[in-house]
Amino acid sequence: MPLDLDMIRTAFPGREIVWLDRCASTMIEAARLAARGCASGSTVVAEEQTAGQGRLGRSWHSEREAGLYVSIVLRLGLAEERARVLSMALGLAAAEAIARAADLRTDLRWPNDVLIGEKKCAGVLVQAEPPAFLAGIGINVNHASFPPDLADIATSLHLASGRPQSRESLLIHLLETVDGFTRMLAEGGREPVLRMFARASSYASGKRVVVDQGGAVLEGVTDGLDSSGFLRLRLPDGSRTTILAGGVRSCS
Ligand code: BTN
Repeated sequence: MPLDLDMIRTAFPGREIVWLDRCASTMIEAARLAARGCASGSTVVAEEQTAGQGRLGRSWHSEREAGLYVSIVLRLGLAEERARVLSMALGLAAAEAIARAADLRTDLRWPNDVLIGEKKCAGVLVQAEPPAFLAGIGINVNHASFPPDLADIATSLHLASGRPQSRESLLIHLLETVDGFTRMLAEGGREPVLRMFARASSYASGKRVVVDQGGAVLEGVTDGLDSSGFLRLRLPDGSRTTILAGGVRSCS
């Protein structure tokens, strides 16, 4: 069933919410809205994406009416170097929305993957459209299965909880938590977001991981976040390095 838009619009009167039956990517639609000078918080939600975009040039599996595919235009007055911590704040927001709507415990894998157990149920993509940022959030909600290449690494809230979940309730919680965590960043700076992320993520410290940096692969134990939100890694020879970008996965 398509989303019940009345329910969402009633919860957020005055907010521009664009609903699309199908689009290539909500990021493209949100970039158009931002270019037209829309207000902060303006939201694009699609039932299906034919070219959903993921981090690191990957694609985002966007099965029709099964997930939430959302992009939100944010005008927070943040400098561009805050994008990383913004993406961590959005990971926290997605995790909190999932906890409130589906009563599921999640983990956060740096910088912003939301996991249930070892499997990913949500991802965040931040795109700068100066002076705005686009917050792209994908959540696997009612998928009953995944294609073979994702089956071992992805899950949905339905699969994890054993019951179908309301996408409307999840979207309402998500828009609220995005407002809350982005306000925390805009008003309180990076520190409270990084502190909360470190508490919510088993990956922030003491986790044996493999980091794929587009060719170079590093293995080590995570050693906290620095003040910019980069991940510190202790290497097998005892030296330390800082991970600026890349795909992190657990090696246990
Ligand atoms: C990731 O790789 O983990 C980030 C995935 C982000 C997917 C969302 S779905 C809504 C928005 N539109 C897109 O094309 N991508 C983001």
